[in-house]
Amino acid sequence: MLSIVGLSKRHPGALRPLFSELRFAIGTGEVVALVGESGVGKSTLLNCIAGLELADAGEIRVGPDALDMLRLDETARAALRATRIGFVFQAFHVLPTLTVAQNIAIPLLLSGVTPAEHPARIESLLLRVGLAGFGPRWPATLSGGELQRVAIARALVHRPALILADEPTGNLDPRTADEVLTVLLERVRDQHAGALIVTHSQHVAQCCDRILTLTPDGLE
Ligand SMILES: Nc1ncnc2c1ncn2[C@@H]1O[C@H](COP(=O)(O)OP(=O)(O)OP(=O)(O)O)[C@@H](O)[C@H]1O
Ligand SMILES: [Mg+2]
Repeated sequence: MLSIVGLSKRHPGALRPLFSELRFAIGTGEVVALVGESGVGKSTLLNCIAGLELADAGEIRVGPDALDMLRLDETARAALRATRIGFVFQAFHVLPTLTVAQNIAIPLLLSGVTPAEHPARIESLLLRVGLAGFGPRWPATLSGGELQRVAIARALVHRPALILADEPTGNLDPRTADEVLTVLLERVRDQHAGALIVTHSQHVAQCCDRILTLTPDGLE
């Protein structure tokens, strides 16, 4: 679902590369934790994989057809991101002026799923993340854990091959964090996707299939 070869990134003006010559892969149904000290480059790596930031060199092959994010023009990159990738942001990024259902519909609109299919897809995902009936509600009326589950539903609704999650349980109490993580892991495995989850939590990392540690010298 993801294959990274020789990936390097240096921010403009920085003295040394944040990372260079990274190499790893994520298989079907595999959930990989990405850990490492603050500032080491985990979010930058996720953004590069999603094509939100441009890496300087390397290959980023995504999905069953293994399209290389770095060899595509901007339009094709956006299309690859919209159809193949689901992103869970650290701060949820659930839009306050859209209902829960409208928030979850965004990736369906971007990836061109027929509108007639939207309600059923949204309802079934809301059910799976334990939020049945929440569709018409406004985000402001949801708890932090509920918002994070909306963000997870939104990352999964278009059935992406790859899910990238940046501290998806960072703002949650341990019990809610566990629930959110369980939903995420189940969905990734059911949908035969792959996932890369950035986390500072040892517990979250240990629930994943494999742990990658990003250090200034590379991946361990
Ligand atoms: N656009 C940018 N230009 C210059 N430097 C940047 C830019 N974006 C990030 N950085 C720097 O790159 C380093 C890595 O940042 P990044 O956000 O990837 O770290 P992180 O591992 O996700 O940290 P945390 O665990 O705190 O979220 C930091 O020192 C940051 O200041
Ligand atoms: Mg980060």
